[in-house]
Amino acid sequence: MPRDDATLETQLSDQEYVRPPTQFVGQANATDPGIYDRFEATYPDCFEEFAALLDWDDHWDEVLDDSNPPFYEWFKGGSLNASVNCIDRHLEDRKNQTAFVWEGENGDSERIAYQDLYRRVNEMAAVLESVEVAEDDVVTVHLPMIPALPVTMLACARIGAPHSVVFAGFSAQALADRLDDAASDVLVTVDGYYRRGEKLDHKATCDEALDLAETDPETVLLFNRDEALDDSVTIESDDPYVLVEDCLADCAGREVDPVSRDAEDPLFVMYTSGTTGEPKGCQHRTGGYLAHVAWTAKHVLDVKPDDTYWCTADIGWITGHSYIVYGPLALGTTSVMYEGPPDHPHKAISWELCERYDVDIFHTSPTAVRMFMKWGADHLDPYDVDVRHLTTVGEPIQPEAWQWYAEHVGGGDAVVVDTWWQTETGGHMITNLPAIQDMKPGSAGHAVPGVQPTIYDGAGDPVDPASDTAGNLVIERPWPGMLQTVYGDDDRFVSEYWATFSETDSDDPDDWVYKAGDGAVQASDGYFRILGRLDDVMNVAGHRIGTMELESAATTVADVAEAAVTARDDPQKGSVPDVYVVPRAECADPSAIPEAVVEAIESEIGSFARPGNVIVCDALPKTRSGKIMRRLLEDISNGESLGDTTTLRDPSVPEQIRTHVQES
Ligand code: PRX
Repeated sequence: MPRDDATLETQLSDQEYVRPPTQFVGQANATDPGIYDRFEATYPDCFEEFAALLDWDDHWDEVLDDSNPPFYEWFKGGSLNASVNCIDRHLEDRKNQTAFVWEGENGDSERIAYQDLYRRVNEMAAVLESVEVAEDDVVTVHLPMIPALPVTMLACARIGAPHSVVFAGFSAQALADRLDDAASDVLVTVDGYYRRGEKLDHKATCDEALDLAETDPETVLLFNRDEALDDSVTIESDDPYVLVEDCLADCAGREVDPVSRDAEDPLFVMYTSGTTGEPKGCQHRTGGYLAHVAWTAKHVLDVKPDDTYWCTADIGWITGHSYIVYGPLALGTTSVMYEGPPDHPHKAISWELCERYDVDIFHTSPTAVRMFMKWGADHLDPYDVDVRHLTTVGEPIQPEAWQWYAEHVGGGDAVVVDTWWQTETGGHMITNLPAIQDMKPGSAGHAVPGVQPTIYDGAGDPVDPASDTAGNLVIERPWPGMLQTVYGDDDRFVSEYWATFSETDSDDPDDWVYKAGDGAVQASDGYFRILGRLDDVMNVAGHRIGTMELESAATTVADVAEAAVTARDDPQKGSVPDVYVVPRAECADPSAIPEAVVEAIESEIGSFARPGNVIVCDALPKTRSGKIMRRLLEDISNGESLGDTTTLRDPSVPEQIRTHVQES
């Protein structure tokens, strides 16, 4: 249920506007301020402008079929292929243009022209067909930031097999859960890769996942990262593993006819954290999704074919899907892909690569900006960084970080755009069109044309627009990039996203409202500012992690009776999880619990979810009805004063816990 407004604190400070530089405005893709009114006046037909950026095999008959809310259908009757839109259609004009310039952590690099991408994707599509992947089979892909990842995604798209990419940093258990949910017969992975100079044995993770999963994939296609990692691979005769290199040799030069997909056929599934322990498979359609990401990449990111664009996200998350792979490739641009983290091999690697490849547009997370800021502007000095456009995603960006980014990375003459959206929304939802609106540090800005975000109060009523009133962020009308459903679970789709604010027995689309799960406020100037999650989901360095997922991981430790997780504010990562645990009565050594809990979280989810503190306590604060008061724990984690504790079953518990925190 939504929280009441009193808990949604807003500290509205006077924020200044910053004008987009004239030279940016002069060259921008989106310059017509009338676009908003035009889209409003013609909704939903306005979204034909999105779809018009794509090549269709069959034109759609209907832009939006909203007869069965919330199961909306976009560009009904149309058909297209995503890999054709991202590759084939560019070959005539620019087959020799670089699609990806890839930098490996170990100094390897590759330039992949659109023609090379075409060849690789076709050969990989032939490999998938050779292991009997058929249209609509979900292929699970567990690959790091190497060219094999976009190649495999596009090969899946070519043959109409939805991909389910699992971020390479996820643990074996997390991979197993996602394999099981998608019931994939084919898994694509790699023998190993590099992380901060270390060779990671990725096949070992996959071996373990295969042991843990109930699904028994018939084939595991194993890429080879490089010769240095060859030795780590042992394939037994009864393994499901098949070396991709061997298959590729058999498929050399093969071309695979792209499957014409119905606009509503799924393009991919992407698992994300929700309010329960089980991740949800957000299923995205082919037509609406691709149209949404292509249009927003063009008009928000201002991507042009001649640009070099670098989004530092990992393709294993939605940002990488939409704004490294599908959006930029649909526009035929050149993208940088980097295997490593921003501090390896040195803290200026981002600027070194910006200079080397003459990056025009740089897209990153506020966490990365805060890190760059902490490392200092000196790291930029030796490099010629000449970007015209800077963008951020994933978390709110504080005005100070915004200013630093604009001044030191942008050199004072770039636009800076904050983009709010979610795995579920497919593409940008709230963000400025950079040449049309002034920038306002700290605010995400306006809705994407045609998109209708609104703020609802705790009772489920809309607050007055632009009234500076904080509340629940909802989207009132369908949009093309929206998820189709939760994979295999239509009921969960309705209950997670729609039930709170919709009349679920109505078939009138006006009665259906999408709940984003975030709090937000719309200021009197119309700019939206995002306040953070209102549900049991936390945002750690831009990574979305479910509180329940962390709690269930912590309680896999035999000595843990109960666990509660809260988000502690962190100057670098935005927030970090603190885990409060109560040992079982028979636990002989409670001091061993913290390490065991950290290990459990790393093995159930992945090291990116590593908690900040694990606090062993005698009891958790509970109401008389037995509900854990997580908000009190959050106050303790953040060193804030505790509110009313009289409703607790044992009001002394919070102070006892505070003592434990101080001791630990
Ligand atoms: O809480 C919001 C935050 O990230 C959540 C979505 O996470 P995920 O599905 O992993 O997608 C991240 C990349 C699109 C949102 O519910 N979030 C995303 N962008 C912003 C943001 N919070 C504030 N400002 C943003 N620009």
